[in-house]
Amino acid sequence: MIKAVDLVKDFGQRRAVDGVSFEVQQGTVLGFLGPNGAGKTTTIRMVAGFLPPTQGNIHVKGINVASDPVAAQKSIGYMPETTPLYEDMSVAGFLRFLAEVRGFSGKERDSRVDRAIERCFLGPVRSQTIDTLSKGYR
Ligand SMILES: Nc1ncnc2c1ncn2[C@@H]1O[C@H](COP(=O)(O)OP(=O)(O)OP(=O)(O)O)[C@@H](O)[C@H]1O
Ligand SMILES: [Mg+2]
Repeated sequence: MIKAVDLVKDFGQRRAVDGVSFEVQQGTVLGFLGPNGAGKTTTIRMVAGFLPPTQGNIHVKGINVASDPVAAQKSIGYMPETTPLYEDMSVAGFLRFLAEVRGFSGKERDSRVDRAIERCFLGPVRSQTIDTLSKGYR
């Protein structure tokens, strides 16, 4: 499902990831542990296709992430450490935007948005802006 081979990432002179290999089978829950600065976030960013590795390669469902990131990303759900939200959008508007980015339109898009809202219990806040909601948590 996920196969990383000899991953290396250099930021200038600093080697952030130094020869990491691992394999994750479908249905597995994997914890990725290590001390601060060990290179966990950098590794996950490479797996998610946000950073190209300096060396090595990653395949997700057999797709090389570096050479075809969009195809690989169709199988990846990634929650980054800082959430990239457009805060002036409403909850439903943001989900609609994401559905469209993922290639859904019309009734298919609307039903997917409704399903996400129902699954995540977002009904009461669907029309509120993310900005208004996040202020309550700051
Ligand atoms: N964009 C960057 N530019 C330069 N150096 C970076 C960059 N990102 C990470 N580093 C460096 O690479 C090393 C690995 O960082 P990384 O954030 O991947 O570690 P981590 O295991 O996620 O740490 P933490 O447990 O603190 O989250 C660190 O030395 C860090 O300072
Ligand atoms: Mg980290």
